[in-house]
Amino acid sequence: MESVSDFYADRALLEWQIELGVTEAIGDAPVDRYALPETGPAKRKVATPAASAAVEPAAAAQSDPVQEAKIAAQSAGSLEDLQQALGAFELCELKKGARNLVFSDGVPGARVMIIGEAPGRDEDREGRPFVGRAGQLLDRMLAAIELSRAENVYITNVLPWRPPQNCDPQPEEIAMMFPFLERHVALAKPEFIICMGNISCLSVLGKKGITRMRGNWEQAFGLPVLPMFHPTYLLGTPSAKREAWADLLDLSAKLKL
Ligand code: URA
Repeated sequence: MESVSDFYADRALLEWQIELGVTEAIGDAPVDRYALPETGPAKRKVATPAASAAVEPAAAAQSDPVQEAKIAAQSAGSLEDLQQALGAFELCELKKGARNLVFSDGVPGARVMIIGEAPGRDEDREGRPFVGRAGQLLDRMLAAIELSRAENVYITNVLPWRPPQNCDPQPEEIAMMFPFLERHVALAKPEFIICMGNISCLSVLGKKGITRMRGNWEQAFGLPVLPMFHPTYLLGTPSAKREAWADLLDLSAKLKL
């Protein structure tokens, strides 16, 4: 049994870690990364045809994850079907580490569809996109132009599962989930798409550089797309809210035309 002094020592250690910024326990034992061989930047394991070929040459030909995603997404005839198809899709490693599938929030069929990046901790817990601090800011931004997810906005993300430690999504993961996003847009039938941040722009428009791109309407899925600063960026860079406000006014004007 743990002694009282162990308990206080453990608690002091835990408090010290929290003070250093630790937010999550990811393993039972510490890892001495200086003792590990150099392998270059860590990459998550993603299912690619080439990777499967190395292990199982015969099966690899049929198992292209992007192709599988296309087939699964195309077979969905409604948003409910699409959510089910995503829930049944097993080729994305992120699913294994996530608590919940984060599919969408808001009003299906709304004129405005917002595409964010990926769920964070709060979204993973609740199974809804944009519910943490960034989401609260997003709600205030929308309210400023009389929009809300309760009435007239639909929201989803490029990735439906939380990347570990909120890392940037890998290009392979973005590519693998793109057929689902494409189908999501087709089924939700918005009039306007807002891409929040670089990852969303990369997936939808095939390029990033949000500082340059924001505020300039583009086309994707046959629809007008407005790149905007991500609310997480705005939380850390309040001076950029001026540009975000200009973009919101532009969207509002388009909705009134
Ligand atoms: N950031 C996103 O891009 N999406 C969310 O759902 C939450 C935070």
